[in-house]
Amino acid sequence: MSTDSPATAAQVLQEASRRRTFAVISHPDAGKSTLTEALALHAQAITSAGAVHGKGGRKGVTSDWMELEKDRGISVTSAALQFGHRDHVMNLVDTPGHADFSEDTYRVLSAVDCAIMLVDAAKGLEEQTRKLFSVCRHRGVPVITFINKWDRRGREALELLDDIQNILEITPVPQVWPVGNAGNFRGLVEAADTEQFLKYTRVPGGTHEAEEEAMDAAAAEAVEGELWPTALEELELALDSGPGWDPQAFREGKITPVFFGSALTNIGVRLLLDAVVDLAPSPDAREMANGDHRPVEEEFAGIVFKIQANMDPAHRDRIAFIRVCSGVFERGMNVTRAASGRSLTTKYAHTVFGAERTVADICYPGDVVGLINATALRVGDTLYVGKKAEFPPLPAFAPEHFAVARPKDISRSKQFRKGISQLDEEGVVQVLTSDRRGDQAPVLAAVGPMQFDVVLHRMEHEFSSPIVLERLPYSLARVTDAAGADVLNKARLVTGEPLTRRSDNALLALFGDKWQLNSFVRGNPDVKLETLIATAD
Ligand code: G4P
Repeated sequence: MSTDSPATAAQVLQEASRRRTFAVISHPDAGKSTLTEALALHAQAITSAGAVHGKGGRKGVTSDWMELEKDRGISVTSAALQFGHRDHVMNLVDTPGHADFSEDTYRVLSAVDCAIMLVDAAKGLEEQTRKLFSVCRHRGVPVITFINKWDRRGREALELLDDIQNILEITPVPQVWPVGNAGNFRGLVEAADTEQFLKYTRVPGGTHEAEEEAMDAAAAEAVEGELWPTALEELELALDSGPGWDPQAFREGKITPVFFGSALTNIGVRLLLDAVVDLAPSPDAREMANGDHRPVEEEFAGIVFKIQANMDPAHRDRIAFIRVCSGVFERGMNVTRAASGRSLTTKYAHTVFGAERTVADICYPGDVVGLINATALRVGDTLYVGKKAEFPPLPAFAPEHFAVARPKDISRSKQFRKGISQLDEEGVVQVLTSDRRGDQAPVLAAVGPMQFDVVLHRMEHEFSSPIVLERLPYSLARVTDAAGADVLNKARLVTGEPLTRRSDNALLALFGDKWQLNSFVRGNPDVKLETLIATAD
């Protein structure tokens, strides 16, 4: 496609405008997999839930998906799910659901235009939710809140909203209100139409949409008694204390629309999906490293936000996931990698996602493309056609866990170096070197300790170089400059670790804890020490 052709540019704009690319952020066990299934249930092409993730007794192994893909034209991998809703194309990008953090989770948020913050009604705002929320805020990603598990006992709705306001410092604006407390959930009233009650009847099994019956206010009161006026009063109270709905404030991250429901019994999920269509922004011009914006109707440009190896262990493949930011991606096209200026053919690459065959070959802004075995690609790379595009590098997140890696068998040092460098390129961990330790004993830095398990496993099974990891007593990393490096090197006795260098040449100083960092800062107020990104600490 070329901007010389206004008809095509108009078509790209139109396709972009009907795309919604979003992720679900939550603490483990809040119900992300269940919600994903419930959302997919509403998709035009799927008729029963329970096939998205292979958890518990649910269906969901890859082969089921292969069958589903063939039958229904839906495509999914662990990275994204594409489906249709109300004439829109929904791209739900998966945030890995580990029990701890990984940088992958954070990077995914660079690829979406909106996030659904899923909150367990009984547990409220848990740690990982808070951290992920702070990443959304940092990246300017608007957040829609869904308070889940309302079908069982939990906290008061007003209390949960207070937490959102006080802890996250974002104003919750309820779009619906629950009739009946958590545990005695009768239905919902929409803030925009308080004359109507949506009563739900739970369908046993939970993998079907709950039955919904709309009734007017008089009928609601007749059926639910006091619960109905109580819900209206609470809704009024919640709305009165805030600024009210304002789309601009939502996009600027000042307010979050709030929905209540139950993913398991599929209550309130359709309203949530409608909100993603109605409220979430469609793909828009993306800021480049030089400060200009790449319009969506410009020729193709995309950003590599995730690289995943061994999705199919039988083939040892490595997939680079690209979010299309502008123009059209067509399978087989030649694209340029901004970092090297080299051309890259996508001839043998596959588009991994797509609601149907035609979309599998052609992707529009907002869509996610998987390029198989494009080994030259790195996380954060920009690919483009035509006029040069280079998006800012993806933020590197402040690692909080550190360990020295050594090969178990020093005769395999070549495999060791190759493996470590590949894991570095994929962004599995950040690899830090120092003169003292040399490249046979790099320091691996991770946002979450589970990244180390991945490294241990892959080094042994993929690179045939089993390693030992020795945890280091640091929990903070700060970026400094050459002048700061001198001071830090002299103060080595204070910080313990010599300065380390990351593969992008950033100089990182490691500190044991905040107390040690603060005491160093007090003694050396002029030394540059930058946080990589503020998480919720
Ligand atoms: P995750 O991906 O965020 O980790 O959470 P997941 O969907 O696996 O849900 C965690 C547990 O919470 C599951 O129960 C799930 O059934 C339950 N759950 C999710 N949404 C709701 C809801 O709306 N209401 C209620 N009552 N429960 C909900 P589990 O017993 O751990 O697993 P399973 O055996 O049901 O799969």
